[in-house]
Amino acid sequence: MVMQASRLKNVRYDIRGPVLRRAQELEAAGHRILKLNLGNPEPWGLNAPEPMMADVVHNLARAQGYSDARGIYSARVAVAQYYQTLGVPDVQPDDVFLGNGVSELIVMSLQALLNTGDEVLVPSPDYPLWTGAVTLCGGRAVHYRCDESQDWEPDLDHIAASITPNTRAIVVINPNNPTGAVYSRQTLLGLLDLARRHDLLVLADEIYDKILYDGAVHECAAALAPDLLVLTMSGLSKTYRAAGFRSGWMAISGPKPAAEEYLEGLQLLANMRLCPNVPAQHAVQTALGGYQSIQELIRPGGRLLEQRDHAWRKLTAIPGVDCWKPRGALYLFARLDPAVHKIHDDQRMIIDLLEQQLMLLSHGSGFNLPTTDHLRMVFLAPVDVLDDATDRLARFLSTYSQ
Ligand SMILES: Cc1ncc(COP(=O)(O)O)c(C=O)c1O
Repeated sequence: MVMQASRLKNVRYDIRGPVLRRAQELEAAGHRILKLNLGNPEPWGLNAPEPMMADVVHNLARAQGYSDARGIYSARVAVAQYYQTLGVPDVQPDDVFLGNGVSELIVMSLQALLNTGDEVLVPSPDYPLWTGAVTLCGGRAVHYRCDESQDWEPDLDHIAASITPNTRAIVVINPNNPTGAVYSRQTLLGLLDLARRHDLLVLADEIYDKILYDGAVHECAAALAPDLLVLTMSGLSKTYRAAGFRSGWMAISGPKPAAEEYLEGLQLLANMRLCPNVPAQHAVQTALGGYQSIQELIRPGGRLLEQRDHAWRKLTAIPGVDCWKPRGALYLFARLDPAVHKIHDDQRMIIDLLEQQLMLLSHGSGFNLPTTDHLRMVFLAPVDVLDDATDRLARFLSTYSQ
C-alpha cells in the first residue's frame, strides 16, 4: 500500500476538491457543465494581448535552455521597473524572482520561512492556496476577519488580537479574491503598522492590481511601507489573460540585509526548481510595458465592467441573495440570507446545484470563511451566459432547502 505523506493530512483546497470531482464525473457521463468556478479568462474569449504572444513566439527558439534560476534578466528588469514606477524604492532585478505562476511563489515564500508551529495571518475569506500552503509548510494559518459590513476591509482589531509570539508573517490579498474588495490606504497603513510593530514579513498578493472598477485605486503595500520587508506577487494570469502560461513574479523590497538568511533560503529553493518556464517569461517585459489593454475591459462600456454589473444586478434580484459590489478582481461573493436560505453545508449545496442545474460555482467555506452562507460566481463569461447562470441559480434556490 502507498500512503499519503502525513504532512498533507490537514492541507485543504476544497474549491478544487469533491465539487470538481463530481463535475468531472458528470462531464464524463456526457453532461455539459456551465463552469463559473475558475478565474481563467481564456475559455471566455478573453485572450492575451497579441504583442505578448508575438514576443513568446519570437523568442521560442532561444527559450530551449534553462534560464537563471530567478528568471530571465529582461523580465526581472521589467518587474523591478514596474514597482519603481509605483513608488517602491530599491527593487533591483536581483530582488525579483519569476515563478510558474504566483502559485509556485506562494509555496516557495512560505517553505523558506516556516518552522513547525509558526503562525501566518491569512485573511478570511482568502484565496485558499494561501491557507493550504501555510499548512503544507508546517505552519498554522490564523485567519483574520474581513468585515462584509465594512466593504470587506480587514478588521485591524481582530488582526491585532490574533498576533502571538509565533506569528511570522501576514498575507494581504488586495484586490481580494473572493470578495473583490480594494483596500483603503488607511486600512493598509494600519495593517502595515501592525506588521512593523510585531516584526512580521508582509506577503502581498496583488495579482488583481490592475483589475479595478468604479474608479477604485489600488495601493501597493510595498510602496506604503518602504521600511518593511515586503514580498509583492503578481503575474500574467489575470490582467494579461494568460493563466496557462504559468508565469508570475515576486518582488522583494525593504530592509533586505536583515533578511539575508531568509533570502538565501529563497534562492536555494529557486535553484532547486532550476528555473521557471522559460518561453512564458518572454511575455513579461511586453506585458508590463506600454499599452495596457486591460483598461479597455474595465472602463465604462468595457466587457468586464458590463459583466460585473449585469451579474450583480441579476444576482441581487434573487430573493434572499445579496452581494457586496466588487470594486476589483473577477468575482461576485454573494451572501444567502440565513433567514431565507438555511444552508448548514455549503459544499453540499454547491454539489446539489451542480447536479440539478449543471452549473459549477464555489462554496464560501472553501475560501476559509467560518460561515456557510456565501458562494462565489466568476463573472468572466459573456452577459448572455451570466444571464442563464443567474436564472439557474434563482430556479435552484426557489425550491432548495437543507
Ligand atoms: C489571489 C490569487 N493569488 C494567486 C493566484 C494564482 O495565480 P497564478 O495563476 O499566477 O498561479 C490566484 C488565482 O486565481 C489568485 O486569485
